[in-house]
Amino acid sequence: MEWRLFRNGWKRRSLAQDRVPNRCHIKTGFILLLALTFLLSIIVYISDFSLKSAAAPDTLYETVVNQIPSYYVTESASSIDNQTMFSAPTPINNQQRATQNNSEHHHVAHPLNYYFTLDEPDICKQRNPFLVLMVPVAPYEVKARNAIRSTWGNETTVQGKAVLTLFLVGLTVGADSEKAQQQLEEESRQHRDLIQSNFVDSYFNLTIKTMVIMDWLATRCPQAYYSMKIDSDMFLNVDNLVTLLSAPNTPRENYITGVLMRNRFVVRNKNSKWYVSEELYPEPKYPTYLLGMGYVFSNDLPSKIVEASNYVKPFNIEDAYIGACLKQLGVEPSSPPEPSQFRIYMGQYKRENFLRAITTILGSPQQLIDIWKDVNKPM
Ligand SMILES: *[C@@H]1O[C@H](CO)[C@@H](O)[C@H](O)[C@H]1NC(C)=O
Ligand SMILES: *[C@@H]1O[C@H](CO)[C@@H](O)[C@H](O)[C@H]1NC(C)=O
Ligand SMILES: *[C@@H]1O[C@H](CO)[C@@H](O)[C@H](O)[C@H]1NC(C)=O
Ligand SMILES: *[C@@H]1O[C@H](CO)[C@@H](O)[C@H](O)[C@H]1NC(C)=O
Repeated sequence: MEWRLFRNGWKRRSLAQDRVPNRCHIKTGFILLLALTFLLSIIVYISDFSLKSAAAPDTLYETVVNQIPSYYVTESASSIDNQTMFSAPTPINNQQRATQNNSEHHHVAHPLNYYFTLDEPDICKQRNPFLVLMVPVAPYEVKARNAIRSTWGNETTVQGKAVLTLFLVGLTVGADSEKAQQQLEEESRQHRDLIQSNFVDSYFNLTIKTMVIMDWLATRCPQAYYSMKIDSDMFLNVDNLVTLLSAPNTPRENYITGVLMRNRFVVRNKNSKWYVSEELYPEPKYPTYLLGMGYVFSNDLPSKIVEASNYVKPFNIEDAYIGACLKQLGVEPSSPPEPSQFRIYMGQYKRENFLRAITTILGSPQQLIDIWKDVNKPM
């Protein structure tokens, strides 16, 4: 329609041009050229805009998560381009899954396959925490751990309630692994906040890491009221989190909240970091899950999730996998009472935003230290 109008207009004008003198002809041509450029740029703008807003949710998800700095990146991540470890040791087909029961713990993400090489088995008995903050982190990311130890990880009593922060690492591999292990053991003696499990620490093994976190909470810390799985590159306002969890209408059981991911398509692009094969996860969409950067849950859930994972075939997207376990349990993720408190990005730094927030992604350990100082400066 618009095109036709445009064409008619063009035609009419070019007919008119035949009758005008030469000088005027050039001027009209110039104006026409300007008008044409203007129209073309509008068309380009509009089609670009509608393309963007019509983008499939999975590309949108990729766009969002691609923007997240250092999101879960470990050194070995780029070298993992195949799915063998998640179909090992025994691939589970649908028929097997239907007959599977909890006497079978053989699948690769099930925590019973692993044991703790560094542990704090009595720390919950000693501290009796209301809230446990579990931070999956790569072994070499000591700067991130130290930044957390000197900021939100150092908040051990909040509103009179005990809060405990622990880091979960896997095994280091490679030439320097022995030295790295010694350093980790030294760090553990010094801070008593490291948990290590015997899987190889890599981006691809994050589902294993998360399941080991759930197992630790279920077996070493059942007395805690709430837990949070929070990445090492996050800001956390512990006070606001404890306020949320202490509110009378916050459920004590089957409660999990954070940034809700609804109707997310499984990424089938083999070049993507989030690629999952149809063999590993046949359905086109994930069930509703919580973005892995930081989700909070009542502490009855870890043992239930570990149990449910017996029936849910593992795949390498840890947060979506927890979503699949929750679906298996019939537990519906909750939107936070104030969704803006769980923010992927804060944009430009504004102190008042961080005073209101619960959690958001930061760019570096130094940024966490700087922002923390500013947010907590005396008024
Ligand atoms: C996948 O992994 C297996 C064993 O871990 C290896 O033999 C194979 O070459 C890998 N394939 C690709 C495409 O990297
Ligand atoms: C679980 O499977 C084993 C054999 O694989 C079987 O002996 C057992 O009865 C099953 N348990 C349940 C609760 O179905
Ligand atoms: C933690 O906070 C206490 C004060 O409450 C301070 O003395 C200590 O140095 C802090 N620890 C770290 C690692 O910053
Ligand atoms: C973890 O990831 C590495 C690759 O980075 C792989 O070699 C290993 O088999 C995986 N699984 C376990 C249980 O360590």
